[in-house]
Amino acid sequence: MRCAVFASGGGSNFQALLDRKEAGDLHVDITVLVVNNSGAGAVARAKKSSIPVVHCAPSHFQTEKRYIESLQQHLQQYGVELIVCAGYMKRLPPPVVHAFRNRILNIHPGLLPAFGGKGMYGERVHRAVLDYGAKISGITVHFADDEYDHGPIVLQKAVPVRDGDTPEKLAARVLKAEHANYWRAVEAVGNGRVRIEGRRVVGRI
Ligand code: GAR
Repeated sequence: MRCAVFASGGGSNFQALLDRKEAGDLHVDITVLVVNNSGAGAVARAKKSSIPVVHCAPSHFQTEKRYIESLQQHLQQYGVELIVCAGYMKRLPPPVVHAFRNRILNIHPGLLPAFGGKGMYGERVHRAVLDYGAKISGITVHFADDEYDHGPIVLQKAVPVRDGDTPEKLAARVLKAEHANYWRAVEAVGNGRVRIEGRRVVGRI
């Protein structure tokens, strides 16, 4: 399965996937890294692993249509079959979501459907969890659909909230769980081990 990883930030989840490939645990091809921001730390990680990088953002184009066409061309050029969003903070355009129905994975740093939706990403999720007084948080890997943080859930892991947590401390604990688990979902989906029955994703993960 040929995968494109989409990232916007430091790219530690992308790195964790590369490390699992290196270790022989993950058997998908990571054919390209797509970023919407050339400053993304993920770019340096891709270069180090000789993975091509595509920098594609709406602001590079005069119209949304041209942006979408360009993104689709890149995906076609690399023969992408599965999109893996790893800290990608932009919403994918609807034509791409439709073309890759049930072939886009996203990781969210919380237990959906709580603390998800528009504007809920990165540090904001952890702050909201702490402000609410929740005792557990966690990670959710799900297929992306037209709505924010909404598609069928592939995998979830709980992470405890501890007394004295700050958003940074909780984020670090959650990120560790992301690194330990995202590859399992990518491997299961990439190797056709799961199927979708309504909202339920079933199979061996
Ligand atoms: C991760 O915690 C990921 O779950 C989150 O951004 C971080 C990226 O870290 N993604 C979202 O909030 C998307 N809604 P990374 O760049 O080091 O992988």
